Amino acid sequence: MNHLNSDMIKQHLNYSDDKRDAKITLFESIDSTNSWLLQNGECGDVCLSETQTAGRGRRGNQWVSPDAGNIYFSLCYCFEEITEHWSLLGLLVGIAVAESLQALGLRDHGVKWPNDIFWNEKKLGGILLESQDQTGRVVIGIGLNVGMQEAGLEQSGISQPWTSLRSGLKTSLPSRNVIIATMMNHLRARLDTFSNLNLEHFLNDWQRWDILLGKRVIIHQNGTKRSGKVTSLDKHGRIGILHEKCNIQYYSSAEIKLVSEKNE
Ligand code: BTN
Repeated sequence: MNHLNSDMIKQHLNYSDDKRDAKITLFESIDSTNSWLLQNGECGDVCLSETQTAGRGRRGNQWVSPDAGNIYFSLCYCFEEITEHWSLLGLLVGIAVAESLQALGLRDHGVKWPNDIFWNEKKLGGILLESQDQTGRVVIGIGLNVGMQEAGLEQSGISQPWTSLRSGLKTSLPSRNVIIATMMNHLRARLDTFSNLNLEHFLNDWQRWDILLGKRVIIHQNGTKRSGKVTSLDKHGRIGILHEKCNIQYYSSAEIKLVSEKNE
């Protein structure tokens, strides 16, 4: 397994303004890179770890984080203000990660609302945005399965089908330093223009990566389950679902399960 190296990551960054100052902190092991940056991070700082002992996912879930050549990445980013499109930020990060994976040669991947990265109907990565106040300082956490292989992880406690970049890429696997720098380049481009977001362009980009559009899903919310078909995304980032004999309903938070075409 190649080692994480902050100088190598910086060599591949395509932005120059604060490149030399970008602080990248590497750990062999830490509870959570998001938690560390929430406590210690300044604007622009990055934290990476080989393994996390208490990796966190969305909706209070655990993010299983073995020392298996994966990426556990967090970035502390500061916006000058909280704009009207704030609720789209998590989706935008999903688009940036999908774009960076495309640049690395991955094909046929996409984003599952709100911001899971999927390939071949399996989860390849997840995104967790956290902030402690209303100042525009956000910690963006990305977990990306890169080297993880199923053998030996049968009892890992991961609750859904998963895959890794190693399985998805037809070309040889780039080093994690290159993958991280590519992700940072795409993130930076998207985050730096977020305050002037063009909604129409954003919705087009979302459609380009959305793996759920037009698909049948089951939606889990507050202990109930309903099936429906995904129709749209609204300007607040809510997912529109057409339930049988019903109007379209919009959800801002829910767990969505794709009804696999393989099972139909
Ligand atoms: C999800 O899909 O539920 C989001 C997973 C986010 C995991 C990443 S790994 C790096 C960062 N540190 C954490 O504790 N969580 C995020």
